[in-house]
Amino acid sequence: MQLSPYTPGRVAREIPGREAQLQEIGGMLALPALHGLFSGRIRVDIGPRGVGKTSLLRKVRQDALTIGLSPIYVTAGNGPLSAVIADEARSQIQRWGIPGGPGDWLDRLSFTLGVPGVASVTAQASPHSPLPQATRAFRELIERTASTAREQGHKGVAVLVDELQDADDEGLKTVAYAWQELQDSKTPAVFLAAGLSHTPDVVTEAVTSAERFAFRPMRDLQDHEVREALTDPASALGVRWETRVLQDVVAATCGYPYAVQLWGDAMWSAAGSPDSGGVLGAGAFDAARASVDQDMNSLHRARWSKTKGRERELLTAMAQLGGIDVARSEIARALHVATSALGPARQSLLDKGIIQIAGHGLLSFTAPGFAEYVLALE
Ligand SMILES: Nc1ncnc2c1ncn2[C@@H]1O[C@H](COP(=O)(O)OP(=O)(O)O)[C@@H](O)[C@H]1O
Ligand SMILES: [Mg+2]
Repeated sequence: MQLSPYTPGRVAREIPGREAQLQEIGGMLALPALHGLFSGRIRVDIGPRGVGKTSLLRKVRQDALTIGLSPIYVTAGNGPLSAVIADEARSQIQRWGIPGGPGDWLDRLSFTLGVPGVASVTAQASPHSPLPQATRAFRELIERTASTAREQGHKGVAVLVDELQDADDEGLKTVAYAWQELQDSKTPAVFLAAGLSHTPDVVTEAVTSAERFAFRPMRDLQDHEVREALTDPASALGVRWETRVLQDVVAATCGYPYAVQLWGDAMWSAAGSPDSGGVLGAGAFDAARASVDQDMNSLHRARWSKTKGRERELLTAMAQLGGIDVARSEIARALHVATSALGPARQSLLDKGIIQIAGHGLLSFTAPGFAEYVLALE
């Protein structure tokens, strides 16, 4: 009996299908790490919940460490973005335990950027600094953190931000303007982020010069990548998938990474948590499906329960129209309203990660099976 190697609801250990992303990001990490240069663009990998953004960013964190960068990894949303990053940079620097301390600058900048619990040293700054002052402070924070990292034997810093869509406007402005001002510098730093599909809207709203950001959509996995995600963890434990059932499971996941892990895990336990030499076979399929259905059902239920009124009408209309690549105009027609009247509900459902923009004027559900769930409610 071996523990399941699958990771439903947790960061994936391996991320098949993300080689292209890792390669491009590797090129960005190399700028500071190998050439001592500043990486001027802020790359943001975007996609619905469960597509694997956090897993990708965690892998990037490892890669950054491997190549010699000191990662500053944060999740946006629990405080102003610039303060959240400053706070993490501060903890990192404190962990280095520099004899005599890093210098007054760390307290001064932390205070200006509003890091909680840092007292003023100059008594001039305030935790709600005006934008130019905050931008200057953030720029200096990155410069000094990078040079301190170098003194500690690292090559530079990698700022990594998850859930970028939750960042505050002021924080986004501060960070984006500071990054722009650093363009001509030799600061060895790189900035990478991940966020839900509507992150470009959030960023464009906050920042005028959004062309510094490079948004890269993440897609569901292709069949051969799902196969790899299912078979590799099992093989590593000496367990084999029967070919026929593997095909059925691959099809059932619809390429949605969260479903891949649910299926792997459910097959594993339905097959009795096999020992080395064991098989994941057809006999486990029905029990696994029942378990996956339950889990997907609670996911759908949790999402549905976060919606109300017009949002539910919109979701129901979308479900009736198939749930994938549904034209906004069709939804409006079904609800007998003007397309513009859908705006607030649509935005709120995007924010909640329940729907995503699938192309110009098109919307899709983010989780497979959601349309069926909604239709069954009626
Ligand atoms: N490339 C991948 N292959 C297989 N499973 C993955 C992959 N990336 C992520 N997962 C799994 O998918 C689920 C969602 O991953 P996560 O990184 O939390 O997504 P997100 O941050 O986009 O919501 C997790 O259960 C994770 O283990
Ligand atoms: Mg995530």
